[in-house]
Amino acid sequence: MISGRGSNLQALVKAAQNEAWQARFVAVISNQPDAKGLDFARQNGIPAIVVNHRDFASREAFDEALAKTIDSFSPDLIALAGFMRVLTDPFIDRYQGRMINIHPSLLPHFPGLHTHERALEAGVKKHGASVHFVTRVVDEGPIICQGEVPVLPNDDADTLAARVLKMEHRIYPLAVKWFINGRLHQEGSQVQISPPESQYIVQA
Ligand code: GRF
Repeated sequence: MISGRGSNLQALVKAAQNEAWQARFVAVISNQPDAKGLDFARQNGIPAIVVNHRDFASREAFDEALAKTIDSFSPDLIALAGFMRVLTDPFIDRYQGRMINIHPSLLPHFPGLHTHERALEAGVKKHGASVHFVTRVVDEGPIICQGEVPVLPNDDADTLAARVLKMEHRIYPLAVKWFINGRLHQEGSQVQISPPESQYIVQA
């Protein structure tokens, strides 16, 4: 599920092609009709669907339509990749344990928006990205893996965002691959990966 550019979507599709994943992308769904990632999906033969939140009177109604669309494809995994809508509790509960998200910070630091600006303001020396299971609190679910990057002295939000994005493109495919291979499970507030993995934290 996307809302924009879709560079993480591209990273996933490319990893699937290069590594011959035993899985296929059944659909790309966007709440924004003009999301660039939809073009990429179409060019790669993946059904590109718009469920425009503006067409619905409430968050609940939007989420219900979204769930209907998703369920029509019977996916095993839902990957949020820059999907910029807050989801309702019933929606999240419905997909518990099979919906994951990528967030551009080392959670639990900097949940929410403008993570790179906030990292610079806080003066942290290390920043990065996290893949996590989606739970009711935004950006708070059990962390699957993280990728670290340094914050360099002359960084601005753009240079830092670019470094983090490159790392996002490394760690999101890792997490999805673990799931596809049946190795990744959410157990309440914890993540189980079996057999254990040496790459929970990826360094630049
Ligand atoms: C990424 O930084 C992702 O971590 C955040 O939204 C951005 C989406 O970028 N959730 P893209 O659409 O995948 O290029």
